[in-house]
Amino acid sequence: MTDGVTTVMREIAADLGVRMEAHAPLAPHTWLRVGGPAEALFFPDSAERAARLFGALAAGPLPVRILGGGSNLVVADAGVRAAVIATSALKDGPRAEGERDVVAAAGTPVPGLARWAAARGLAGLEFAEGIPALLGGALRMNAGAHGSSFGAVATALRVADAQGTLREHAVGAGDYAYRESFVARGRLLALGAVLRLTPDDPAAIKERMLTYRRRRRETQPVTERSAGCTFANLPGCPIGRLVDELGLKGTAIGGAEVSRIHGNFIVNTGTATAADVLALIDLLSERIERATGQAPRREVEVWQDAP
Ligand code: EPU
Repeated sequence: MTDGVTTVMREIAADLGVRMEAHAPLAPHTWLRVGGPAEALFFPDSAERAARLFGALAAGPLPVRILGGGSNLVVADAGVRAAVIATSALKDGPRAEGERDVVAAAGTPVPGLARWAAARGLAGLEFAEGIPALLGGALRMNAGAHGSSFGAVATALRVADAQGTLREHAVGAGDYAYRESFVARGRLLALGAVLRLTPDDPAAIKERMLTYRRRRRETQPVTERSAGCTFANLPGCPIGRLVDELGLKGTAIGGAEVSRIHGNFIVNTGTATAADVLALIDLLSERIERATGQAPRREVEVWQDAP
C-alpha cells in the first residue's frame, strides 16, 4: 500500500535520481540481524547526490537516520519511522594522493581499505583491519582498536549538513575524542575522508596486522553475530573486564547473550529479538552502575522511535 509519506519519499528519490526501497527491512543490513523496517531506505551513489538528498529529507516529514555497515547498530523490533540514508553505494576510491594520503568514500569497507593501504606500503590502518564497518560509520563513531582510531589518521572529511551543503572539513583539535566526533555532535553526514598514513615496509605492516588479527580472534567473538563493544570503557575500567569480574558472561535474555569470550559484547545466539538485546543492555548498564557508581556510556547505537 502506498501512503502519503511513501509518495513524498518516492518523489524525492525520483527527483534526485537515487534508488529507494519503501518499507525496507533493516535487520539484513545489521550484524546483529534484529529489528524491523524503515519507511524508506535510500542508496545515493555520489557525495553530491547524498548531500542533496540529506537536505531534501531533513526538510521532509520523517526523521533522517544514516546507515553505515550496521555493525554497531540495534534496530527496534517495530522498526523506525525514518528516512534512512545508506552509505553503502558511496564507493569512490580508495586512491592515493601524494606520498602519504589516501582518499576514500564513506561506503568503503574498512577491512579492505586497511589491506589496500598495507599492500601499498602505507602504515597507520593496521588497527582497523578487524573492524567490520564502512568508513563513514567509522569516522562518525571514531572507531578504534589497539591504541589508535580513525580520528587519529583523518586529516579532512567531506561532510554534508541538514541544509544539503557539501563541504570539506579540516580535522582540528577537539574534533575527535574517544568514540566521539564532530560528525555525531554536529549531526553531519560523513561522505568521505583524507587519511594521512606513513610510508613503511609492506611486510612489516602486514606482520603488525597479523598480530592484531590473532589477538582479536583470541579475545573477541568474531564469528558470532554482535554489535561490537556494547559500552565505551570507563576511565581506567575496561567494561569487558568488569562484566567478567561481576560473573555476568553467559547471562542470557531470550536469544541475546553476554559473550562468553568478551564481557563487553552481546551476541545473537540465533533467535534474539531487539527487545532481548535491549533488555540485556539495560541489565548490564544497571549492574555496571551499581558496581562503579557511574552509568556506562552506550557505544552501540539504538534506533527506536519515542513511545
Ligand atoms: N578482559 C577481561 N574479560 C573480558 C574481556 C576483557 O578480563 O571478558 C580484560 C582483558 O584481559 C584486558 C582488558 O579487560 O586486560 C581490556 O580488554 P581488551 O584488551 O579486550 O580491550 P577492551 O578495552 O575491552 C577495546 C575496544 C575494542 C577494541 C579492543 C582492542 C572499547 C569499548 N573497546 O576493548 O573496540 O577492539 O580494545 O583494541 O574501547 C568496539 O569499540 O566495538 C571494540 C570492539
